[in-house]
Amino acid sequence: MGIVGNLSSDQLQSFNSQGYLVIESFSSSEEIDAMRKRMDQLLDGFDCSSTASIFSTKNQQQSTDNYFYESAEKISFFFEEKAFGDDGALKQAKQLSINKVGHALHEIDPVFKTFTCSEKLTGLLSSLHYKRPVIIQSMYIFKQPGIGGEVVPHQDNSFLYTEPTTCTGLWLALEDATVINGCIWAIPGSQKDGLVRRFIRDENGVHFDKPSPSYDQKDFVPIEVKAGSLVVIHGDLIHQSYENQSSKSRHAYSLHVVDTDGCKWAQDNWIRRKVSPEPLYVS
Ligand code: FE2
Repeated sequence: MGIVGNLSSDQLQSFNSQGYLVIESFSSSEEIDAMRKRMDQLLDGFDCSSTASIFSTKNQQQSTDNYFYESAEKISFFFEEKAFGDDGALKQAKQLSINKVGHALHEIDPVFKTFTCSEKLTGLLSSLHYKRPVIIQSMYIFKQPGIGGEVVPHQDNSFLYTEPTTCTGLWLALEDATVINGCIWAIPGSQKDGLVRRFIRDENGVHFDKPSPSYDQKDFVPIEVKAGSLVVIHGDLIHQSYENQSSKSRHAYSLHVVDTDGCKWAQDNWIRRKVSPEPLYVS
């Protein structure tokens, strides 16, 4: 009770028709600085060598799968694919080798938790009609200069499936995101066509239940935003980002929310929590 929605009817209308919404100046420069500095500290404290061996050694599928599954309740570090040389060693400093950190920053780290639980975020979720919202994962994404990998076209509901579907992506730019350094691209209105496929975890590991449809790159529009802008992404919106071949990084903090009121978390999702996450509020 007491959570007041903060989106205007124009903003909601735009979100419903386009499948995404940019909210400029959602975060202050102080908030952004705090999250970036905190990530610097986490990276400084990260013992890279043991984790690097999981990813750089070939035929270690089970180890990498387990590292991924366990990250649902931890702060875990994932490397860029192009971070390693043929000898299995990192080609550059760890700070420039990490693809993302996830997936429970929002629960474990106080700085990221503060932003995640902020009134402006709960107000936004209330506007989107969430009744008992749970942040199910968080990611600090680096999109490193030169090697920041592409993210192929996808829908977030594929990975975080509830019945009925309720996932929304909340993507906060911690640096300016442009076509040069790998901003998000989306097909406006594509959320209206519904969910195409699911990402399933079973005894064989994780995999999609169907091949990806092919998309015409001409249908995608770039979502270029300033640092501090929040991009709200409908769970069925087709979106992607290209490799960052520029010399500028493109840091972002990304959250995914699902409702836990009147819908069911699928048991074959990749995230299987031992401890159920707390809702941000109950309305
Ligand atoms: Fe996504």
